[in-house]
Amino acid sequence: MKGVVLAGGLGTRLYPLTKVTNKHLLPVYDRPMVHYPIQCLINAGIQDILIVTGGNSAGDFLQLLGNGADFGLKDLSYTYQQGEGGIADALKLAEHFADGEKIVVVLGDNIIEGNIRKAVQDFEAQERGAKILLKEVHDPERFGVATVDARGGVLKIVEKPKQPESNLAVVGIYMYDARVFEFIDQLKPSERGELEITDVNNFYLRDGTLTSEVLHGWWTDAGTFDSLLRASNLVAEGGANRLDVGAGGRRA
Ligand code: DAU
Repeated sequence: MKGVVLAGGLGTRLYPLTKVTNKHLLPVYDRPMVHYPIQCLINAGIQDILIVTGGNSAGDFLQLLGNGADFGLKDLSYTYQQGEGGIADALKLAEHFADGEKIVVVLGDNIIEGNIRKAVQDFEAQERGAKILLKEVHDPERFGVATVDARGGVLKIVEKPKQPESNLAVVGIYMYDARVFEFIDQLKPSERGELEITDVNNFYLRDGTLTSEVLHGWWTDAGTFDSLLRASNLVAEGGANRLDVGAGGRRA
């Protein structure tokens, strides 16, 4: 399976930190933010990785990451997103790279304590469709929010609901088969003018091929001042990408 790290966007919520650089180059404790999603993929056994960048300082990614040798990779692939068309718009740029294979997508500002290897293996064994990871949070209105039935099956996903029906956030780690690019082609921009990854996940949900698992260990984004600080503190306290607990539990 191949991996994609989405590190485009303008990072306006972190302005002026992002006035002259890309959000994913900012420090999270002792490493640049983008190191964490790359390590997350590598720990799951994925070696073939595409970085989608954009906005400011795109060239700095090459200088920082090079050909991936610091991570023990043979090579790294890169592409560039014009503007800030949304997560699904950035993912569309991975179509050529994916070349019909299943992919694991990690948002460039998402950091986890654990290892998703088990969930990735489960998805490898899944004939078709998509898999999302869910995590209980105190502030679900900041995320995509899943409503699940008594058996844990996903019933619906709403992007940043004002009145969330659950506290189960959709983590920024997604697994897709090759149809994801057909679904992206059918998307219309949301109210915030972006192609939403939640709409992609809802395509799979309607298709009956979306599975989900609950992520163990802590998870945070790092795209706001508070979450950036929280991310640094969590990493400083115990390190990221270290618990080999996998994700377990529920299927939709
Ligand atoms: O963190 C998980 C959440 O991420 C999910 O629960 C939400 O459903 C999902 O929409 C997303 O929410 P955010 O609004 O927090 O996403 P944000 O705009 O901060 O983008 C997250 C990452 O996606 C960002 O660090 C880089 C990448 N991205 C984003 C945009 C808008 C791109 O590569 N290109 C883009 O145009």
